[in-house]
Amino acid sequence: MKEKLDLIKAEALKQINESGALDRLNEIKVNYLGKKGELTAVLKSMKDVAPEDRPKVGQMVNDVREEIEKVLDAAISKMERAKREAQMKSETIDVTLPSKRSKLGHRHPNTTVMEEVERIFVGMGYEVVEGPEIETDYYNFEALNIPADHPAKDEQDTFYVTPDILLRTQTSPTQVHEMEKGSLPIRMLAPGRVFRSDEVDATHSPSFHQIEGLVIDKNITFADLKGTLAEFAKELFGEDTKVKFRPHHFNFTEPSAEMDVTCFKCGGSGCRFCKGTGWIEILGCGMVHPNVLKMSHIDPEEYSGFAFGVGLERITLLKYEIDDMRLLYENDVRFLKQF
Ligand code: DAH
Repeated sequence: MKEKLDLIKAEALKQINESGALDRLNEIKVNYLGKKGELTAVLKSMKDVAPEDRPKVGQMVNDVREEIEKVLDAAISKMERAKREAQMKSETIDVTLPSKRSKLGHRHPNTTVMEEVERIFVGMGYEVVEGPEIETDYYNFEALNIPADHPAKDEQDTFYVTPDILLRTQTSPTQVHEMEKGSLPIRMLAPGRVFRSDEVDATHSPSFHQIEGLVIDKNITFADLKGTLAEFAKELFGEDTKVKFRPHHFNFTEPSAEMDVTCFKCGGSGCRFCKGTGWIEILGCGMVHPNVLKMSHIDPEEYSGFAFGVGLERITLLKYEIDDMRLLYENDVRFLKQF
């Protein structure tokens, strides 16, 4: 029996010594120490051993088992360590390598102009607010003094969600939300996206942006409107810019006007840019209609105000001399990079 065990031990140690891979070592472990392994087989054959010799033989088997186990475990951990080290070596990161350059986008000219307009008005004490892009008929029309049967409503055909809910056609409903908050005076600027079911061409898009302005306080007059907007035009287009107000009609203001600025290309003498007139129209404005104040629970005997609405794209196109509005929405970085 002893010889047999010595033979098993010698063979096992030889195999361990010669094995070059972790898998092979695990295989050896199963072959010798596992349930169906050679040592277990020896233990099973104990019944053939004389009872008085059994403890001795048992002890011998255990000694061999322990020895094989010890050598095996040492070999396994040595190999695991080597494997880990090789892995660490192959996976090291060279932190000194130059990084990949990520491509940065470019500020959109609309954003640049919008922030410029916001900067100018914030400097005059205005607060920038936002209104919802989906509105009810009441906020988009009714509360702005545009009743259901008024032709002005037809001019702003839009996308209806239900007969009563629609994508806003103008930022003017933000005026109503602000007035309904009930905190006076108001000096607000509300930039945002608006929608109209217009065909796409060089000057139209079904979705564009407006910047709405509203001031409500005691003793606000048309002189305040003129002074404010003249200052705005100077800051945006240059110190020499002059403004001109032409009478117009908007339901929510009375009187209403459109404001032109002197052409910043020719300075007012007339050129191709201003179609020879020397003037460029940039916004609509007026004194807030008493009906609008009343509907938003403001007493027109005590308070008055002015409002204005600027088409953001229009100003962007003018300022950067871009001749097709569609270019603003294609988001081609090669185009945007120029501004
Ligand atoms: N909401 C008008 C439009 O979309 C623009 C406008 C004109 C806004 C006069 C105003 C205003 O606040 O007073 O055509």
